[in-house]
Amino acid sequence: MSTLIVLGMQWGDEGKGKVVHYLSKQADYIVRYQGGNNAGHTLIFEDKPFVLHLIPSGILFPEKYCLIANGVVVDLESLKEEVNVLAKKKIVVKDRFFISEQAHIILPYHKIIDGILEDRSVKIGTTKKGIGPAYTDKVKRVGIRSIDYLERDVFEDLLEENLIEKAAILEGKIDISNLKKKMLEDYNEFSEFLRPFVANTSLMIEEAINGNKKILFESAQGTLLDLDFGTYPFVTSSNPIAGGVCSGAGVGPTKINSVLGVVKAYTTRVGEGPFAVELFDEVGDYLREKGGEYGATTGRPRRCGWFDSVGVRHSVRVNDIKHLILTKLDCMEDLDKIKICVAYKYKNKIYKEFPASRTIQKYAEPVYEEMPGFNGRVKDVMNFESLPINAQKYIKHLEELVGASIDLVSIGRKREEIIEINKDISWF
Ligand code: IMP
Repeated sequence: MSTLIVLGMQWGDEGKGKVVHYLSKQADYIVRYQGGNNAGHTLIFEDKPFVLHLIPSGILFPEKYCLIANGVVVDLESLKEEVNVLAKKKIVVKDRFFISEQAHIILPYHKIIDGILEDRSVKIGTTKKGIGPAYTDKVKRVGIRSIDYLERDVFEDLLEENLIEKAAILEGKIDISNLKKKMLEDYNEFSEFLRPFVANTSLMIEEAINGNKKILFESAQGTLLDLDFGTYPFVTSSNPIAGGVCSGAGVGPTKINSVLGVVKAYTTRVGEGPFAVELFDEVGDYLREKGGEYGATTGRPRRCGWFDSVGVRHSVRVNDIKHLILTKLDCMEDLDKIKICVAYKYKNKIYKEFPASRTIQKYAEPVYEEMPGFNGRVKDVMNFESLPINAQKYIKHLEELVGASIDLVSIGRKREEIIEINKDISWF
């Protein structure tokens, strides 16, 4: 049995796509267990950047199986587009890409409602992909799962019920009967597209585990965007944390062997919400430009800041992380000095643990330690000892602060630009 979870330690965009792509080569199955097409994983394929929103990046290897498990919400329009883009690159998904029968479908009204809510209630800065409203329906027990969508009668009844239930919010914003007509017109196209992919993915995973296959569970977003453990309410509507794999893929906790946390050498966040280490100066601008910090899904500029060890230590704890990969270290190589947030301060009190209070999250000041800049090239270095001594010290200090071992360091966009600090670890 060999299973590995790869997940983000901050507010998403830590570079999980590249890490999953790097480790997928060793895996047989790659499984998404939460989120939807709010994610965007930028990969380099034949020397060109390429974004996948829903299908696991392992699909680029022809012999791998890729699964969308029950915890994911699926936008059929976006998925169809992704399958077409892959087909143009001669990447065939048939017979090796599957979607759980129990995965909920994002329908056009979810996207409309996401937009309406963003305009009128607390602005979260969502991706407006309908993620929150689709998960809301799941919890309200009115959602439409992929298995329901495939049975026309069931789908029509549920659609009718849903449009009545949502009339209060949709009325005056759109023509509900036109929307319904369009959804019924599109039904054949989308249900026929979906049908060959729908499967019992929890069972497939169990069979794969019993057959000694290697399984990589790929998260979207990050722990600080987790519905329970993130900066609520400025979070996504699912559980990217390691525990999310059990409910999101139908796998028992004793079947999980290891968890790898992906952590960026500095911090970014998109959308609204507290962000104690945010920089509004030229260092923030430098990180944004050097790191290409623009949303892969929405193109929004990402807010940038120093490394927040309070947030990452919290993520290490809730995921029980022993191993980390530090990404984008190369994007800090020109800085003269580097700061690390080691605590939060609010009303003269020092907080070393990540606070749940919205007020403290919002108004806390970061307490910084300062280190000298790397003073040397990080890119093109292929082992830890060849890194500038200050970069080595930075890595070692981060390890001490967050309480987990940094075993891999990513120093560029390409798949092979990864330094293996601990060569003895076998990930599967
Ligand atoms: P939603 O997931 O679209 O509902 O958005 C909720 C929050 O999560 C917003 O702040 C988004 O910007 C953020 N978010 C969602 N997906 C991602 C991601 O893949 N990377 C970074 N932030 C994300």
